[in-house]
Amino acid sequence: MGRFTLFLSLASLAVPSFALTNRQLGNDVTYDYVVVGGGTAGLAIAARLAESPDVTIAVVEAGGHYETEGGPLSIIPGFAGTANTGTDPSDVSPIDWNFVAEPLAEANNRELRYARGKTLGGSSARHYMVYQRGTKGTYDQWADITGDSSWEWDSVLPYFKKSCELTPVNMTGRFDNTSVTYNPAAFDPAGAPLQVTWPNFGSPFSTYVETGLESIGVLSSTDFNSGNLNGSAWASITINPQSQKRDSSETSFLNSAVRNSSPLQVYEHTMATRLLFDGTTATGVLVESAGVPFTINARKEVIVSAGAFQSPQLLMVSGIGPRDILESHNIPVLQDLPGVGQNLWDHPMFGVVHVVNLVTTTRLLFDPPSLAEAFMEYSVQQGPLTSPGFGVLGWERLPSDKLTDSAKEDLEAFPADWPEVEYLSVDGILDGWHSAADQLVGHGEQYASIAAALVAPLSRGNISISSANAHDAPIINLNYLEHPTDQEVAIAAVKRLRAAWKGAAISIGPEYSPGEEVQTDEEILEFLRESISPVFHAAGTCAMGKASDPNAVVDSNAKVFGINRLRVVDASIMPTLPAGHPQSSIYMVAEKIAAEILNGN
Ligand SMILES: Cc1cc2nc3c(=O)[nH]c(=O)nc-3n(C[C@H](O)[C@H](O)[C@H](O)COP(=O)(O)OP(=O)(O)OC[C@H]3O[C@@H](n4cnc5c(N)ncnc54)[C@H](O)[C@@H]3O)c2cc1C
Ligand SMILES: *[C@@H]1O[C@H](CO)[C@@H](O)[C@H](O)[C@H]1NC(C)=O
Ligand SMILES: *[C@@H]1O[C@H](CO)[C@@H](O)[C@H](O)[C@H]1NC(C)=O
Ligand SMILES: *[C@@H]1O[C@H](CO)[C@@H](O)[C@H](O)[C@H]1NC(C)=O
Ligand SMILES: *[C@@H]1O[C@H](CO)[C@@H](O)[C@H](O)[C@H]1NC(C)=O
Repeated sequence: MGRFTLFLSLASLAVPSFALTNRQLGNDVTYDYVVVGGGTAGLAIAARLAESPDVTIAVVEAGGHYETEGGPLSIIPGFAGTANTGTDPSDVSPIDWNFVAEPLAEANNRELRYARGKTLGGSSARHYMVYQRGTKGTYDQWADITGDSSWEWDSVLPYFKKSCELTPVNMTGRFDNTSVTYNPAAFDPAGAPLQVTWPNFGSPFSTYVETGLESIGVLSSTDFNSGNLNGSAWASITINPQSQKRDSSETSFLNSAVRNSSPLQVYEHTMATRLLFDGTTATGVLVESAGVPFTINARKEVIVSAGAFQSPQLLMVSGIGPRDILESHNIPVLQDLPGVGQNLWDHPMFGVVHVVNLVTTTRLLFDPPSLAEAFMEYSVQQGPLTSPGFGVLGWERLPSDKLTDSAKEDLEAFPADWPEVEYLSVDGILDGWHSAADQLVGHGEQYASIAAALVAPLSRGNISISSANAHDAPIINLNYLEHPTDQEVAIAAVKRLRAAWKGAAISIGPEYSPGEEVQTDEEILEFLRESISPVFHAAGTCAMGKASDPNAVVDSNAKVFGINRLRVVDASIMPTLPAGHPQSSIYMVAEKIAAEILNGN
């Protein structure tokens, strides 16, 4: 009862203090810029464009406010993992598109639900808040791919810095052995509005993961925001340092635009169904709100920020994409761009789980008194609920003796500083991630996992459409483990995880998953096929590139090839998916393209 009341009061505290209403619903309207998708990139670019005087901007967002529609699970970091982000198709959320991907041919035909935010904030209202940047070589390679040196690390670093503000860790509530290191020079004191900091809680389990990783040669590193990913550290996260609540693109970029009375109009619960053109010039967007269609015209540009699945979908249903796909759905071809929906990158993940002789957050799920205590602590911004669950992360290029020559050759496609494996300490069970119910096993034992993600994957998926109707879900082919080198790296990573557990110097019970009986490479591969799950980092499906690249969809200023006044700005235009967690790069991309637009490029 008391717990429930606290839930409600936390929810009402979180309701934003502004209310944007849909103006003139049903009537055609005109703005300078129309941004489709009020998600991570969409709200960032809209807010930056809105800083320019005399410019009008509309944002079209299919969802509403996650704070009210998704409730406290979507706000409190410690509940991010229980906020219906599992891969079980029944783990649905009212603030999610609840997509289900096609059966995975190399993973026993499993059909995974794939979380995507349907709300202001988009997937930044769903994610696990880890903030970290790719390696220098990653963006230098983007410059090569696009033929535009302004994508080099040195040139994009100012945009990373511009988007966010770093607040040093507050150690008052954290255990002494969870102190964090960082590089202040990776941030700019003038940066804003996204909040980057550390939670007021560091999990004791993570301190053992540091030891375990060190034992296999993944040494402690200063930070993950200066262009190097080699070693382990406590990851920074995007939460508000005072309130210890999730900081999404809505609570950061949109709220600051609203505070500054920007000329930005949000059409929430409004679905973009088709882009509109005059010849090959984009003129606006056909939208639908409460079943009522109307047109939002763009005097200057249409910017599509509907995410890695729906940006390519919206292009395709509007006549831009692979000719064969469009023709098979009787969509008139405006521009044949074979790369639309191709080049889907993602980071698949798996974990090795043990019972541990240490309190982990497993306890919160089946012990009501400890949950009540955690709520009390959270009401004063302390305790485990301030943390989304990952504490320490680590990165490595696998030692040379762990891979075959052919795998090493395949991996040469990546810049030399790009790690192959990310390690994640997880305060609970992570061996497949079906839903929060995964945690409800045993008889009160504490579980913990060391997980790994393939961050140099060679398998590529794709996106297609099931009909010409934007309301029908896109077809999502994740194609995990399709490339034999991905299988080999994943098997090697499971062995590394087991070695890290051995070196963790923690008293552990039996291996819960995969389990001691899983030993040969074949057995490990079968475990991977049964358990592999996404980290939900889909990207690359409208890739930036040179005009001469037949698979490029947008140029280095995010303009769609062959179409005037149309850009795509979100995870889909990243030509490669940086190692690790992409939100930092997505905000950087939005900042950079906003600056290019305002500079007349
Ligand atoms: C469970 C989970 C955990 C994650 N953890 C992390 C993490 O810890 N750290 C990290 O960096 N990244 C993480 N990610 C990934 C990260 O959240 C995404 O990569 C990022 O938010 C994508 O940004 P985007 O702008 O491309 O798309 P989104 O933020 O998804 O925005 C797309 C927006 O477009 C809207 N939209 C789509 N189609 C239409 C339409 N036709 N009409 C109107 N609106 C439409 C959607 O509703 C949505 O709001 C995680 C993601 C998930 C789901
Ligand atoms: C750190 O947290 C403590 C306890 O909540 C608080 O009193 C203090 O003001 C915080 N320090 C800073 C610098 O925010
Ligand atoms: C770190 O401190 C916590 C809290 O005191 C403790 O539970 C944990 O065992 C410590 N970690 C290590 C590696 O000693
Ligand atoms: C990572 O760091 C280790 C230890 O400092 C070093 O030996 C190794 O060469 C580094 N790897 C890369 C790819 O920089
Ligand atoms: C997507 O990938 C799958 C599996 O490799 C393949 O069968 C399918 O034809 C591809 N679809 C598109 C649209 O490229």
